[in-house]
Amino acid sequence: MVALVSTVAYLGLEARGVEVQCQVAPGVPAFNIVGLPDKAVAESRERVRAAIAALGLSLPPKRITINLSPADLPKEGSHYDLPIALALLGAMGIIDAETLASYVVVGELSLDGRLAATPGVLLAALHASSENLGLICTALQGAEAAWAGDVEILAPKDLLALLNHFKGQSVLTPPEAGTVPEPDQGPDLKDVKGQETAKRALEIAAAGGHNLLMNGPPGSGKSLLASCLPGILPPLSPAEALEVSMVASVAGTLEGGQMSRTRPYRNPHHSASMAALVGGGVKNLSC
Ligand SMILES: Nc1ncnc2c1ncn2[C@@H]1O[C@H](COP(=O)(O)OP(=O)(O)OP(=O)(O)O)[C@@H](O)[C@H]1O
Ligand SMILES: [Mg+2]
Repeated sequence: MVALVSTVAYLGLEARGVEVQCQVAPGVPAFNIVGLPDKAVAESRERVRAAIAALGLSLPPKRITINLSPADLPKEGSHYDLPIALALLGAMGIIDAETLASYVVVGELSLDGRLAATPGVLLAALHASSENLGLICTALQGAEAAWAGDVEILAPKDLLALLNHFKGQSVLTPPEAGTVPEPDQGPDLKDVKGQETAKRALEIAAAGGHNLLMNGPPGSGKSLLASCLPGILPPLSPAEALEVSMVASVAGTLEGGQMSRTRPYRNPHHSASMAALVGGGVKNLSC
């Protein structure tokens, strides 16, 4: 029997659907993961084995094969641990296949079965919402996932809590969306002495949504003026805040599921190379 579990692969700001297939077949005992896994995914074998042992279960002495489909899409990250473990538990007949079919699953497993946070949960939740599925993620990121809105979210703290939920022994409460803190007060234009023309240019650019090119001798206040710009722009709209939070989610910096309404301000050094700004590698340069 083949058990199927849905998960995602992150490609920039896109979460693409990935199906985890697990087959337990007679043969020499083995546990293989195929479908272009990177080192972190290949190592998930050991975490899954240990987490299942922590439940008091042992892997069947059979040939276990996990396939991550589409098989030609490279799989990176540790969020495949939980979908692999659930597919295996499904193939072992411990979890019902129908239950598994209604969720997108992401999460990293610890050796004792606890679930650890992984980047990109908000994207996975938005993907689940577009597919009309629920989402299973760690309790640490339930607040982040809940921002996706109309999605059923199961956020257990460990594998045992999830199994108990499926058996109806202790039902998990759906997480609440994280809070939205007030935008941070950055530098204020009133602290800039003089520079009336530059301030006016800044105001016009802010009002009209224009770009600005600053030119002047070192120390004349260009960086200071630029850092004042977020302060005179309106707070992020909900759609913009979601987009900014998606970037933070993929970077793994969305702490406590708090969606920020502060406009991001980046201050790269003028001599920074292309690779330093956008990351290296063929994949990043092509997108
Ligand atoms: N008009 C001003 N009012 C108050 N402080 C100023 C003003 N102009 C410059 N400063 C202060 O001088 C220091 C240098 O300014 P800043 O870093 O903005 O210069 P810059 O034009 O970006 O220089 P560089 O070309 O080297 O990047 C900062 O601490 C800034 O606060
Ligand atoms: Mg500067």
